[in-house]
Amino acid sequence: MNGKVALITGASSGIGRASALLFAANEYSVVAFGRNESELGALRDDSRELSGSVKFYLGDITEVSHVDRLVSDTIDSFGRLDVLVNAAGIIKSGNIQDTSLDDWDKMMNVNLRSAFYLTQKCVPHLVATKGNVVNVSSVTGTRAFPNVLAYCVSKAATDQLTRCTALELAPKGVRVNAVNPGVVVTNLHKRGGMSDGDYEKFLENAKNTHPIGRAGKPEEVADLIYFLASEKAAWITGATYEIDGGRAQTCAR
Ligand SMILES: NC(=O)c1ccc[n+]([C@@H]2O[C@H](COP(=O)([O-])OP(=O)(O)OC[C@H]3O[C@@H](n4cnc5c(N)ncnc54)[C@H](OP(=O)(O)O)[C@@H]3O)[C@@H](O)[C@H]2O)c1
Repeated sequence: MNGKVALITGASSGIGRASALLFAANEYSVVAFGRNESELGALRDDSRELSGSVKFYLGDITEVSHVDRLVSDTIDSFGRLDVLVNAAGIIKSGNIQDTSLDDWDKMMNVNLRSAFYLTQKCVPHLVATKGNVVNVSSVTGTRAFPNVLAYCVSKAATDQLTRCTALELAPKGVRVNAVNPGVVVTNLHKRGGMSDGDYEKFLENAKNTHPIGRAGKPEEVADLIYFLASEKAAWITGATYEIDGGRAQTCAR
């Protein structure tokens, strides 16, 4: 064990799960946060042979009391926090005319407000270790896409949250960066309402919309998250890193 502690939200699935396994494979003690107990239990089982450890913690990221307890229990258990990965997120399609206030609020709550509040609670502990934060944003934070309006806005705000927080915390020795993936094969879109058939077509279309010719894998994004959290990225802060098979370079089609 390297003695370092990483707190990862969205760890029960997709990018957060892949990140939890990678940090645990690199001797971190990982606190894996999510709501799905069986998926988090499976994650812990999958980490048993790794050099680090995974302890899971159940809760809803939008509940302030859950976040408060998550941070205080993490510090009580491990005595420190070195890395925060804000990966929890949801998507729902909708345009300027048909996005309900309820959907808008849900996406802002999970994707933005929760990351803000959890980061705020973690700051004193990250300052103590000169640790860092990696936010999972999206190519939709830097580019406009039709019919995912609220999601795009939540991710653009995540990018600015990243830059503002980085600026404020740099003098305290804490770095803050974001990754901006293109389409990655996870549960996100189906959970957001896409049917199996539509998801298959969406992934087929990703071969055209991503210049590299395919959608991404959660492990590829986890690699970048791990790099940004590592000492190798000691001079990188406030960055929003595209990892998208070139998606951000294309025009809408
Ligand atoms: N997949 C893509 O194409 C893509 C592209 C760009 C960016 N992203 C971003 O990547 C991040 C990870 O998404 P993913 O693709 O890995 O999706 P995913 O497989 O659906 O995972 C989403 C995670 O967020 C957690 N979550 C959602 N709402 C929550 C809540 N209220 N409280 C606690 N946890 C909650 C889920 O936990 P539970 O299931 O346990 O509730 C799950 O672990 C998101 O921020 C997403 O916006 C994804």
